[in-house]
Amino acid sequence: MLIWNSGKPYMMSYYADLELSIKCYRYFAGWADKNHGKVIPLDGSYHCYTRHEPVGVCGQIIPWNFPLLMQAWKLGPALATGNCVVMKLAEQTPLSGLYVAQLTKEAGFPAGVVNVIPGFGPTAGGAIVRHPGIEKVAFTGSTEVGKIIQAEAAATLKRVTLELGGKSPNIILKDADIDKAVEMAHFGLFFNMGQCCCAGSRVMVDESIYDEFVEKSVERAKKRVVGDPFKGNTEQGPQIDEEQMQKILGYVGSGKAQGAQLLTGGNRHGDTGYFVEPTIFSDVTDDMKICQEEIFGPVLSIQKFSTVDEAIDRANKNSYGLAAAVQTRDIGQAIAVSNALRAGTVWINTYNVLGNQAPFGGYKMSGIGREGGEYGLENYTEVKTVITAIPQKNS
Ligand code: NAI
Ligand code: MG
Repeated sequence: MLIWNSGKPYMMSYYADLELSIKCYRYFAGWADKNHGKVIPLDGSYHCYTRHEPVGVCGQIIPWNFPLLMQAWKLGPALATGNCVVMKLAEQTPLSGLYVAQLTKEAGFPAGVVNVIPGFGPTAGGAIVRHPGIEKVAFTGSTEVGKIIQAEAAATLKRVTLELGGKSPNIILKDADIDKAVEMAHFGLFFNMGQCCCAGSRVMVDESIYDEFVEKSVERAKKRVVGDPFKGNTEQGPQIDEEQMQKILGYVGSGKAQGAQLLTGGNRHGDTGYFVEPTIFSDVTDDMKICQEEIFGPVLSIQKFSTVDEAIDRANKNSYGLAAAVQTRDIGQAIAVSNALRAGTVWINTYNVLGNQAPFGGYKMSGIGREGGEYGLENYTEVKTVITAIPQKNS
């Protein structure tokens, strides 16, 4: 069903979406009886404690790139903290979300706790955002819609968490294990057909290893297996729809027009379905559209830098701040660079590693709030302070 829903290859559907979703529900289920408050000493003769209470009805709007997993990321913390949910699925991928809704019924959730609706963004999604009975909205999707949601939610002062777009830098220092770095850059961008909010879409390489890195990256991309998502060895299936495919091909045109070097790919793959060839541009400069905007497709941009300070400055010179990475064998340098990067997650010598225990979310235009782990639970509770006067003992 996951493959029918989104065209994701079998291996990815099975080992990424399905497995991570199951782990996510199990992780958050473990929190259900552990989300307690504190006893706080006050001046005077009082007993003060806090309770972590459910926010109420939470509206959740999810995208199509990880339909099963995004549903788990949202339902898990909301239900573990005792909320009710109205969730809107992405119009492109309603199947797995509706199936999970059916499972909640079979599992015996009380009627009305989990409400899952398919529907379009401005109508069904907008109704959630504007409804006065909904007290919180959690959204994952484009920055463009995130801004609309925050503005519309102001009318009813909803709590808003947003997980939005990215243009994440992956910085390859000169001492990196180059073959591993090539693989991390490949996986960091091409995973899920490039349809990842945290895709490493700006690969920045030290000038001393640039030529070798570019050559090896092109070799790797040419080996990528594109095709039928139902086949076991397929690495890359179709993009989600024609609109996304056209958007990606438009960015390829823009990269060529602005002077980037197209080294491989750049076209639709075949003439049926929405497949796009694994594409690599080198000589990408910061002013190009393909370096500034989220492409959300299999298009890797490689840039050259001369010093680490320059790489950090240029990495941060972008309106997004979801994720970043640095590949190096020098642990001191790795920590210094990761401290300096303005991003919600920084990977060192790896990419795309997400854990249910760890928070995930963006700086700057990549969003507001964190999902995942204990931090993620905070969005789903109101903290109530209870203060009781204690009679003074006459002494
Ligand atoms: P989108 O942001 O329009 O859609 C995401 C969700 O928001 C869907 O459920 C949609 O129905 C809903 N939505 C749309 N307009 C809404 C509104 N006015 N009020 C409430 N809900 C609304 O994203 P779209 O159009 O599917 O893709 C456009 C671009 O967004 C992609 O090319 C990609 O760059 C980015 N994107 C980022 C994602 C992420 O994981 N951060 C996921 C999906 C898309
Ligand atoms: Mg849209």
